[in-house]
Amino acid sequence: MTTSHLEVILGDLRATEKLGSALAFAVTNGGVILLEGPLGSGKTTLVQAICRQLGVTDSVTSPTYDLLHSYYLPHLTVHHVDGYRLLDPREWDVLDLPAPPTFKEVILAEWGAVLQEQYPDRLDIQLICEGATEVRHAQLRAIGPEWMRKLDAIAEGWRHGV
Ligand SMILES: Nc1ncnc2c1ncn2[C@@H]1O[C@H](COP(=O)(O)OP(=O)(O)OP(=O)(O)O)[C@@H](O)[C@H]1O
Ligand SMILES: [Mg+2]
Repeated sequence: MTTSHLEVILGDLRATEKLGSALAFAVTNGGVILLEGPLGSGKTTLVQAICRQLGVTDSVTSPTYDLLHSYYLPHLTVHHVDGYRLLDPREWDVLDLPAPPTFKEVILAEWGAVLQEQYPDRLDIQLICEGATEVRHAQLRAIGPEWMRKLDAIAEGWRHGV
């Protein structure tokens, strides 16, 4: 079976941590995750959870001004990008991101939708924070067969509370 869409409720920080763990497991050999969502919807918090689970011990902060933070682990390189200030895909060239990423490279891009064309195999995450009620959701959309298989495993794990 393959899953192309998954919606999960992120009712508290523990839920974000749990999703971060599942996503970290999915990118242990590399992968691309593009995050979108309004200001304060939890993009950086989810990236922090993924990085923590991958073994990043540095404190992970949003690269809003320097655009890219890279973390070099023995087994993996993690690139955390914040595209809030970059709109035109050509501006992203300055970051010199691998496209497509080589094995053992992870790209986690906040405001990353502009990179969709560059990365045909990826997971798109839309974070939703509904104002008054503050109910947070994440909509995950797998693009490409590999991520569909991975999302299948994530969906299965989520259902079983893993
Ligand atoms: N699942 C959650 N439950 C409760 N609070 C959360 C959750 N996820 C994130 N938050 C809180 O929401 C606030 C904003 O989160 P965060 O900075 O990750 O958002 P962001 O989408 O990266 O914002 P920006 O667009 O400004 O970069 C933080 O205080 C964070 O702790
Ligand atoms: Mg952020």
